Amino acid sequence: MPITEDQLLGTKELIALEEAYGAHNYHPLDVVIERAAGAWVYDVEGKRYLDCLAAYSAVNQGHCHPRILEALVEQAKKVTLTSRAFRNAQLPLLYKELHDLTGMEMTLLMNSGAEAVETAVKAARKWGYTKKGIAAGQAEIIVCAGNFHGRTVTVVSFSSDEQYREGFGPFTPGFRIIPFGDAKALRAAITPNTCAFLVEPIQGEAGIVIPPDGFLREAAAICREKRVLLMVDEIQSGLGRTGKLFAYMHEGIRPDVLIIGRHWPEGITRCRRCCVEGDSGRIRAGRSRKHVWRESTGVRGGAGVAASADRRETGGAVGGAGRVFPGEIADVAQPSSERGTRAGLWIGIELTTEARKYCEALKEEGILCKETHSHIIRIAPPLVIQREEIDWAFERIRKVLE
Ligand SMILES: Cc1ncc(COP(=O)(O)O)c(C=O)c1O
Repeated sequence: MPITEDQLLGTKELIALEEAYGAHNYHPLDVVIERAAGAWVYDVEGKRYLDCLAAYSAVNQGHCHPRILEALVEQAKKVTLTSRAFRNAQLPLLYKELHDLTGMEMTLLMNSGAEAVETAVKAARKWGYTKKGIAAGQAEIIVCAGNFHGRTVTVVSFSSDEQYREGFGPFTPGFRIIPFGDAKALRAAITPNTCAFLVEPIQGEAGIVIPPDGFLREAAAICREKRVLLMVDEIQSGLGRTGKLFAYMHEGIRPDVLIIGRHWPEGITRCRRCCVEGDSGRIRAGRSRKHVWRESTGVRGGAGVAASADRRETGGAVGGAGRVFPGEIADVAQPSSERGTRAGLWIGIELTTEARKYCEALKEEGILCKETHSHIIRIAPPLVIQREEIDWAFERIRKVLE
């Protein structure tokens, strides 16, 4: 017998239902959110919390942003889904807007971040075979230790973290792992079969790990010199999280493929340089029968509602991220913690003990954040958070960590 919403279940009952009938693939904090607005969420008991995770950057724009809601509702009344069998009136506008925003030549919309990464992998391999002349089946992609690019079989094939791989083999071959931030290792790992280097400019899941200054710049130069595509995964770091529109901009480089998502309802892969410059061209995303995207599509890719909502969302809240959270993270890193890193509105507080209990204590104080790995607290509020809210949060974070 289905349970109806008017039965008004409380926190305990809802958690019990979820545990009984939902696959245990995650370890959420025991707070059951019912509604949200801006940087705040409210649980089923009516208690208010400051969201300091922003759904891993998916709601950078804040919860229930009125302009996005308006666009969703407006579009839902017109048409929700066309599939890619037909064209729709929103998609071209979104493509153009993304081009203007990022400077990338073309966009491909996917359904999730992992799928966008998989598509980038496919595109790079195809480019390697058709443009670089790599022998069939030999293409290699270099990735970094500590990476997190999603959870599909191919993507976990190149994870260096056993927890993401255990029990899911056999894995997809063709990947080499180098230490994150090590340009020398990148150079050494490149072979004539290397088609791409896939990298997060700042590793989010690993705990907001910032590479040494100049690493991306050097990596970009090496990739160019060796004719290897630089593919930057900005799914968590992009669109303002680190204080610039994209984190790669801190190093003044341009990737060949930019992977973003989250802030949009779907993952997005973008490719720059679709035009080849003679034979030395990098990547082709043209319209010929052979183009690299040809086998990459999805029924929902570019759906009308999503495209319409996306368009309302660009121009978001980039500005604040670079200047907020005053004082060094060391300020809040009291005896229980060792060190922290910060990039704009993205903070990792590394503890000497289990982070989970601190996240639970913060929840009691009205702040929602989440551990990554066992000992790092990740703080990544919506970018619309206000100065007073930040001060409010930090008072409590200090109190809990002291
Ligand atoms: C850098 C990065 N890439 C890819 C993904 C995978 O995205 P999704 O969960 O939408 O598949 C994530 C998810 O956290 C991520 O942080």
